[in-house]
Amino acid sequence: METSTLIWHPFTQMQTARTPIPIARGSGIYLYGEDGKRYLDGISSWWVNLHGHAHPYIVEKIKAQSDKLEHVIFADFTHAPAVELASRLMPLLPGDMAKLFYSDNGSTAVEVALKIALQYWYNQKINRTKVVCFKNSYHGDTFGAMSAAGRNSFNQPFWKQLFDVESIDPPIKGQEEKSLQQLQVILDKGEAACFIFEPLILGSGGMIIYSGSMLERLIQCCHAHGVLTIADEVMTGFGRTGTLFACEQIQAKPDLICLSKGLTGGFLPLGATACTEKIFNAFLGSHFHQAFLHGHSYTGNPLACSSALASLDLLLEPSCFEQRAMIASSHQAFCEAWHPRFKRCESIGTILALEYISEISIRDRLYDFFLSQGLLLRPLGNVVYVMPPYCIQKEELEWIYSQIILTLDGDL
Ligand SMILES: Cc1ncc(COP(=O)(O)O)c(C=O)c1O
Repeated sequence: METSTLIWHPFTQMQTARTPIPIARGSGIYLYGEDGKRYLDGISSWWVNLHGHAHPYIVEKIKAQSDKLEHVIFADFTHAPAVELASRLMPLLPGDMAKLFYSDNGSTAVEVALKIALQYWYNQKINRTKVVCFKNSYHGDTFGAMSAAGRNSFNQPFWKQLFDVESIDPPIKGQEEKSLQQLQVILDKGEAACFIFEPLILGSGGMIIYSGSMLERLIQCCHAHGVLTIADEVMTGFGRTGTLFACEQIQAKPDLICLSKGLTGGFLPLGATACTEKIFNAFLGSHFHQAFLHGHSYTGNPLACSSALASLDLLLEPSCFEQRAMIASSHQAFCEAWHPRFKRCESIGTILALEYISEISIRDRLYDFFLSQGLLLRPLGNVVYVMPPYCIQKEELEWIYSQIILTLDGDL
């Protein structure tokens, strides 16, 4: 297959970019190149794939749904897959979630949460307009989602257009109290509308794991000030951190939850934002403009919803729980054995994060080495992480670890 010069790839400096690797097919944890080369997908293709590529059960369900209804406008109309998905998903979510708003990716799930939180106050004529977030967080690439991450080098060209947020340090080891104090100062001003966070782990910011008990205190502090809390579970959702949702690991519950990525098992784009009854009620009234005037063409797409239903079936099977536990304990054992060789080596559930001891960036060399070995791991700077589909076998995990260990010795 010819690669195309017409295509502009994401997160890519096109002038210096490598030729993209043409992938012909996927099966289980493997991707197969046009040239026949096999790649173990150690990052679940940007964290979306849960059960392996081209899983036959999900394929069947999507095929069956395409024969019935591929899409329908979701204002004034509804359909069985969306209804069933909401009724099965909502009881699984942490907190008292009462309503689910569909969109079509992680960034839009975040946009929806932010807009709901801001309009919640607007509808009540209460002047709370500030969004609070963690420094070094990531919530997507649309303007609201970029704003909610605070100013950073990735969104620098747009700083003038981003709305102002208040940011606090994430409560990583050693700066837990600092984080809480910063939040207190902000909340005391009385302008905060909501606090958005990636629960337990900052993903794109370098797979940085932080304390659940501190997150709990931050949420409690927000609630004491009447501030809404938004858990962005776009990455952490659907079992990545050891529980189905990361917020299950804390007592304090968020008011809104953002979902995407693993929602459909990695087959089709879908976003969803859940909120409590109290929030939903603030949008009810006789005036049209009190409603949440937001929607996307592919909102609640039936194929995506049936994919999500099939993925949920697989996710809730006891064997999938066992697989996630196996991955988690293998990661832990790796950390215990190899911790001294890394600047940081930690895991949470099915996610393993390793930071190399190096003064210079070795990101590209690591990436190239892994690819040459037939392993797809995409480092974030000098941080390598492993986040495999849940169907991976113990020996395959051990093979990934062995490739990482090879990078520790000698020249890459
Ligand atoms: C925590 C979090 N939120 C939101 C997003 C944005 O999701 P999407 O890429 O589907 O827009 C991501 C993507 O990596 C994410 O990790």
